[in-house]
Amino acid sequence: MTKSCVLAFSGGLDTSVCAAWLRIERGYDVIAVTVDVGQGRELDGIKVRADAAGVADLVVLDARQQFVTEFCWPALKANALYEGRYPLVSALSRGLIASELVRIARERGADAVAHGCTGKGNDQVRFDTSIASLAPDLPIVAPIRETGMQRDEAIAYAKDHDIPVTATTEKLYSIDENLWGRAIESGVLEDPWAQPPAKDVYEMTAADHELPDEPDDVVIGFEQGLPVSLDGEAMSALELVEHMHVLAGRHGVGRIDMIENRLVGIKSREVYEVPAATALMTAHDDLERMTLERDVARFKRSISDRYAELVYNGLWFSPLRKALDAFVDETQTYVTGEVKLRLWKGSAQPLGRRSPYGLYDTSLATYGSADDAFRHEDAAGFIRLWSLPVRVWAERQGDA
Ligand code: ARG
Repeated sequence: MTKSCVLAFSGGLDTSVCAAWLRIERGYDVIAVTVDVGQGRELDGIKVRADAAGVADLVVLDARQQFVTEFCWPALKANALYEGRYPLVSALSRGLIASELVRIARERGADAVAHGCTGKGNDQVRFDTSIASLAPDLPIVAPIRETGMQRDEAIAYAKDHDIPVTATTEKLYSIDENLWGRAIESGVLEDPWAQPPAKDVYEMTAADHELPDEPDDVVIGFEQGLPVSLDGEAMSALELVEHMHVLAGRHGVGRIDMIENRLVGIKSREVYEVPAATALMTAHDDLERMTLERDVARFKRSISDRYAELVYNGLWFSPLRKALDAFVDETQTYVTGEVKLRLWKGSAQPLGRRSPYGLYDTSLATYGSADDAFRHEDAAGFIRLWSLPVRVWAERQGDA
């Protein structure tokens, strides 16, 4: 019986070459798996491309809803931004894709799983680490990494083996797209000083000269830390993200151009468009400021970076991620309410927020006399004790 291998297949140049290579050089029957996490048009003609690459079977799975609710939503609740900026678009999808590879490999009794990542990026780490976390015994084959094949060599291999190299496979950039946004790298972007070309790079966000002069104000409703409605209209997670992309994208919200540290030690120039993630995270953070108790808010902020790093570094299926999610979920119990967000000229700014569980108390905060419930006389005594250590120090050691 021929051995079989389950390959993560996007239909692009690299994974098409991988499919052929696994069959020709290693004798595998290739079961190609395409997990739809919202890569849109990239999925057009996937069957034709799979056939051209000579796969034995193609499985296309619609995982869009699951991707949003089980991967993007936890990251949103954690306000996870890698190196303070990147909402983990690609990183979040790799865990889900890896888990589907493993599931199908088990179902079909496959001998190995495979992916088309190079040896220089984060994605290989995420695939290998996620697969190892779920199926430590399952061998992993990474043809591009193993052969060190570069882009021109991949094109040559494709031509030698009658795999049509189309405009999609010969793209100017390396693009990874899903429901949480788009990641664009390589090509002219490899020069960190070069401005991303106006055409081709951005697809979800309007350019400066196209931005509407009128703002859009949208009310985002949250329940226990998760967005559930836009302007009072209840929506599924998928609908809400898709709506938010359009609303925020037309105002140019969510463009990110950054130098980022990959896990393998390389600094790389990355361009992202993440309109929905930026708008939703801005609103979520704002509502937390209203509803989280001070110490919880501060402590939670201190784990956001750690959470983002862990996801970026491929440790989605780790005990620490589970433990951090348990903490984050506990903090979200009362993160329910609404945030009014203004989308305008590239930015998403909160205009107001309200919550039935808000800890904001007008009678404590007011500077008007009528309803003031704050005991002013307590302040003086509190400050006497608060400042006691520095007062003693100043009296003994101070050089005033
Ligand atoms: N640098 C980003 C990350 O590591 C994006 C990677 C995108 N992958 C790609 N094949 N273009 O998450």
